[in-house]
Order: sequence, then structure tokens, then C-alpha cells
Amino acid sequence: MDVIRLGLGGFGTVGSGLAKILDMNRERIAKRLGKRIEIASVLVRDLNKQRAFDLGSDVTFTDDPKALVNDDIDIVVELMGGLDTARDLILDAFAAGKHVVTANKHLLAEHGLELFEAAGKHNVGLMFEASCAGGIPIVQTLKESLAGDEIVKLLGIMNGTANYILSEMTTKGMDFEVALADAQDLGYAEADPTFDIEGFDTAHKLCVLIRMAYGVDYPLADIPIQGITGVTPMDIEFAREFGYRIKLLAHVMNVDGRLEAGVHPALVPYTYLLARVGGNYNAVRLEGNAVGPIMLHGQGAGDLPTGSAVLADIMNLVRGMECRDRVPDNTGFCNQPLPKADIL
Ligand code: NDP
Ligand code: HSE
Repeated sequence: MDVIRLGLGGFGTVGSGLAKILDMNRERIAKRLGKRIEIASVLVRDLNKQRAFDLGSDVTFTDDPKALVNDDIDIVVELMGGLDTARDLILDAFAAGKHVVTANKHLLAEHGLELFEAAGKHNVGLMFEASCAGGIPIVQTLKESLAGDEIVKLLGIMNGTANYILSEMTTKGMDFEVALADAQDLGYAEADPTFDIEGFDTAHKLCVLIRMAYGVDYPLADIPIQGITGVTPMDIEFAREFGYRIKLLAHVMNVDGRLEAGVHPALVPYTYLLARVGGNYNAVRLEGNAVGPIMLHGQGAGDLPTGSAVLADIMNLVRGMECRDRVPDNTGFCNQPLPKADIL
């Protein structure tokens, strides 16, 4: 059976989650693809660190990003986070004609347009399902399932760490800092958790999703962002008393062709499904002008849910790799440059 060899940039929470699923579901994956997927090389910072999953002795570990992109690798999977090294790795992979899968919403929000253009130039795929809402297939839904709908509205909880903190404060009276430390231990938080609690991570995801939903660039700098560090136990208690839950929401709305987006904590009536989304779960409510409202709900962070989304992208790429003439449509808008959004 043919083997697809992965070059894995990063072997932390998500990287080890991917490795666990490749091991756990080995037979199913091989049956579905007619090919085996193997991790061949891994790029990390610290070669001496104890790892959460043993990859065996056939896998090469390196701390040199240049060594990851080589002839033995079919697909590069970027799961490091951060901007500069990740960007360089992806551009090197494109230049070598390799498809890339990434979970890095920060990078996509800041440098996505450049990366999509480079992928188009080299005729390779840049897949990023795991970058938004962890295990929830929101990118596929916008790119494929709702390809023919005008998206009227998108609203949701898109950060597992912030939702975990707010849920634990609400249901257990847990202290903010204790809940944050828990979320870090559980592998939900960003390397710098400021991104989670100040709303930046949610804004990165919103920025990426707006591109898929509307085919435009809504610059990160134009998204008003408020996080949850100002939410006090008293706010939560008052909200509860009046029948609300406090949730960190991202929204974008199409008002007569002009877009309005933002990230902020909001009072959500307890009768709404969004109010009941607990723990590390995310939920996104989409409204298409033909399909009407759709709600996607699932784990928004963590090793296996996120690894599942990364693997789905890898498998999609492998299926497409058979058709050499096929140009991967990374953005869902024929890889055309995305014009700036008309912002309300
Ligand atoms: P971790 O911090 O757990 O792992 C990062 C890995 O990348 C580590 O193995 C680290 O090496 C390696 N790494 C980081 N920087 C470099 C570098 N400059 N050179 C070489 N290796 C490097 O992060 P996560 O797995 O949590 O997140 C990875 C990506 O996935 C991020 O973009 C994140 O935003 C995204 N993501 C995370 C989710 C989650 O639930 N955690 C969910 C969805 C997306 P070493 O181990 O040696 O330090
Ligand atoms: N830190 C992110 C979160 C990871 O908590 O949602 C998933 O993108």
C-alpha cells in the first residue's frame, strides 16, 4: 500500500493529538484512502523534551525548520503556532511544491492573504480546518456545504479556554485564575493565554471565517475586540439571577452588502442554545439566505478534537493529490485575491 509521509512542525498538544488518532484509527484511514499516512519527521524546539506520545524510532526529530521540508515528505503539517518560523516553514514548503495543513489562526489572520497567494502561485493546497473552532467542521461547512448560500449572519463561541473559564466560574464559582490554569493544563490555551482571555484568538478565527463566508478581507485591525478579563463573579451572578449567561461571542453580519464584525462578552438568555454551551465546547450559528439557520456545536480545543480536524484536511489533500491538474481552491473563491471588505 502507498504511504503518505508527513513532516510535522510541532509536537505539542495538537501534534501529539494527531499522532494518537493516526495510531488509533490506522485501519479505518487506510481503508478510506487506500493509502497509509505516516509521520516521517518532526520539528520541535527542544529535542530533549519528554513527549506525550511515543512515535517510535523510525521518526526523525529535528530542531532545524529547513530540514523538515525534504524529498521524503509529501505534506507539511504546521502545528507550532507563532508567526515567523511558521510562516517561513509554510513558504518553504510551497516553494518545494508541498501541500500544507495548519491550525495556526494567528498566522492566517495576520499573513493569510500572502500565504493563500503563495499557495496559488505554486498550485498547492493550504488547508486550515483546525484553525477555527477546533473539531467543529466550520471551514468545510462554509467552503463546501454552504458554497451557494449568501451568509447573512455568523455568530458564535469560538474560544474553548474563555468558554471553559466562564463556565467554571458560573457553575462552580471557580476563581478566574484557577480556571485559566486548568484550561492550560488541559491543553486548551494558547502558548500565551492572553490571546484567549483578551479575545484576540477569537478575532483571529473570525477574520479567517469572514474570508470563507464572504470572500473578502476584513482586516484584524478593524475588528473591535473585548475579552473576558473584566468579567467579575458579581457580573456572572447578576446575569444568572436575570436568566442570562455571559459568553464571549464573535459575530459578523451582512447589512445590505456591508459587513459589521466584533468580539465581546455578551449576555445570552438561558433559553438560547448558545447559553448552554459549556466547558471547552464552541458553537457557531450560521444563517444562509437559502438554508436558513444552522448550528454547529462541538469541542473547540484539545488534542483529539483538533487533531481530528487536522487529519480531515490531510485526508482531503491525499484524495486530491491523485488529480495532478486540480488546482486546490484554498479560499473557496477560486483563489482570487480577496478584496477589502466594505465595513459598516
Ligand atoms: P503547543 O505549545 O502544545 O505545541 C507547539 C509545538 O511546536 C511544540 O512541540 C514546540 O516544540 C513546537 N514549536 C513551537 N515553536 C517552534 C519553533 N520556533 N521551532 C520549532 N518548533 C517549535 O501548541 P498547541 O499544540 O496547543 O498548538 C499548536 C497550534 O495549533 C497553534 O497554532 C494553536 O493556535 C493551534 N491550535 C491549538 C489548539 C489547542 O486546543 N491546543 C486548537 C486549535 C488550534 P517544543 O515541544 O520542543 O517546545
Ligand atoms: N486556545 C484556543 C481555544 C485553541 O481555547 O479555543 C483552539 O483554537
